[in-house]
Amino acid sequence: MNLKIALLSGDGIGPEVINEAVKVSDAIAKKFNHDIEWKSALTGATAIEALGDPYPNETHDICLASDAVLFGAIGHPRFDNDPLAKVRPEEGLLRMRKKLGLFANVRPTFTFPSLLDKSPLKKERIEGTDLVFLRELTGGIYFGERGRKDNGNSAFDTCTYNRDEIKRIAVKGFELAMKRNKKLCCVDKANVLESSRLWRETFQEMEKDYPDVKVSYEFVDAVAMRLIQWPNSYDVLVTENLFGDILTDEASVISGSMGLMPSASVGTENALYEPIHGSFPEAAGLGIANPLATILSAAMMFEMSFGLNEEGALIREAVNKSLTVGMVTKDLAEKGEDFLSTSEVGDYLIKLIK
Ligand code: IPM
Ligand code: MN
Repeated sequence: MNLKIALLSGDGIGPEVINEAVKVSDAIAKKFNHDIEWKSALTGATAIEALGDPYPNETHDICLASDAVLFGAIGHPRFDNDPLAKVRPEEGLLRMRKKLGLFANVRPTFTFPSLLDKSPLKKERIEGTDLVFLRELTGGIYFGERGRKDNGNSAFDTCTYNRDEIKRIAVKGFELAMKRNKKLCCVDKANVLESSRLWRETFQEMEKDYPDVKVSYEFVDAVAMRLIQWPNSYDVLVTENLFGDILTDEASVISGSMGLMPSASVGTENALYEPIHGSFPEAAGLGIANPLATILSAAMMFEMSFGLNEEGALIREAVNKSLTVGMVTKDLAEKGEDFLSTSEVGDYLIKLIK
């Protein structure tokens, strides 16, 4: 198979973790006789520095011309600490999601048997956790009207959803639930927010089309609690944009490290794969970043964009093996034990794949 993949490394540790995902993907391609054509493009702070724009048109064109996009991370403290910055790296990410129509963000949360002790949560609570968030990604408060009033002394952000936007993410949720355990949780704040009431109403109307799916309606604050109390009670959770942003960071604690969880953002035409962690600028260039979330994102890419399930499974198998034998980066190493650098983890996985 011929795979055309856009490569957006972004900022901070982005280039390092992307490098390992490329190495591993190339090893997979070689083994299964595929041809990957990588095309690099700039995003984030790196793109602002080079071209004054965090998501330049050139980058958008490269994404459109590719079968899939593999993305590292975006963000730089220089902008975080400057509330007056005219342009921010994150804007590039949001514009990219919107322009590529990536309305559904698929964020799985699962545990690795060999890492159960790494989570601050009790082992017996998290064992066997296997859930997926479907986070709406191109609407809500992230994209609503915002601004200042009263000479800058008052500020507002608005959360707007229309029925069609809710329906298309709900369809993804119901379909995913049908393929999994036929259990879906609609996360909202319908006791307070009008947008949540429309969200709930839409899901309730759609229930009849999926009679086999058991739907629960839960308020986001309660989900935040139950998620870490009884993660095993969830399977598919569908959320609006901001709720999903917050809950998926929280859920990453279950797996033991932010550096482990992959994600996919899909729309009707395009698909982008990225780790859920940020650009971790303090670690940039030190070779300590954990590349596994990005490598597992590449596995999702093989499976979801190309239907190459065996290829994806082999990546997962190699990752599991590396964790079991302790060939891991610093974040996962036992205190006082040796650990591998970012690129050594990639090298080890390649050896396993070969
Ligand atoms: C994420 C990130 C982004 C978001 C930021 C970097 C804009 O936190 O992908 O979860 O809030 O969506
Ligand atoms: Mn986030």
